[in-house]
Amino acid sequence: MKILSVENLSKSFGGIHANRDISFDISAGEILGIIGPNGAGKSTLFDLITGYTKADSGKILFNDNNIFGMRPDKISNLGIGRTFQKLKPFADLTLLENVMIGSFAKESNIKNARDKALEIIDFVDLIEKRHHFARELSTGQRKRLELARAMAIEPKLLLMDEVTGGVDQKTIPGLVDLILKMKAAGVTIATIEHNINIIMEISDDILALDQGQRIAYGKPEEIQKNDRVIDAYLGTVDVA
Ligand SMILES: Nc1ncnc2c1ncn2[C@@H]1O[C@H](COP(=O)(O)OP(=O)(O)OP(=O)(O)O)[C@@H](O)[C@H]1O
Ligand SMILES: [Mg+2]
Repeated sequence: MKILSVENLSKSFGGIHANRDISFDISAGEILGIIGPNGAGKSTLFDLITGYTKADSGKILFNDNNIFGMRPDKISNLGIGRTFQKLKPFADLTLLENVMIGSFAKESNIKNARDKALEIIDFVDLIEKRHHFARELSTGQRKRLELARAMAIEPKLLLMDEVTGGVDQKTIPGLVDLILKMKAAGVTIATIEHNINIIMEISDDILALDQGQRIAYGKPEEIQKNDRVIDAYLGTVDVA
């Protein structure tokens, strides 16, 4: 069953075609990996799906609802969560307070929102840090905070923008495990990721972008052999 269906989505900023006729589907329960060089249009694609940026043209269906042109809060309420490439926690609030802001989207009772937030913080393995200020957390812990905040809206589809970006090597496996744990919990995921080994390991399908265009879309083993992907992206990366 398709949870998201994107058809011919386009967005230009002045003369830059950030997204040009992008089409793909995400099936419920799967992980879609999104790859492409810097400036390929990956984050823009998430901005369009979540309504943060209005697309110029195309179609976006989420569970058969037409969400094209809908406000970000409405799209979030329907069940699309996201994390940002540039982390944006409230630095002077605690981890628990940061996650509670997310859980208020679904729960107006303070105690219930707090309990819900604690449950999610436990899920992302940060329970002992719940009263720490966000600014005291390491980058890896802030990535978990970002995932917890996104989970607090109880998303059916979660869009993750470079969860493993900018963290040290030893922190990566734990974050990958967490992504797989979210999938196991029933969340459908689209994840932008520069680390090709991770993408190959966790993705059910892969969408490859370059200069705003879709250059390949398919199973990991097909993508790995795709000439356009190798030219645009994999050529410079060790895929062994
Ligand atoms: N708000 C904006 N205004 C103008 N240009 C933008 C805007 N957002 C993105 N762009 C441009 O659109 C193109 C795609 O940017 P985008 O951030 O989507 O790329 P990306 O694939 O996420 O890159 P990276 O891997 O570096 O994060 C780039 O040329 C970028 O400069
Ligand atoms: Mg980006």
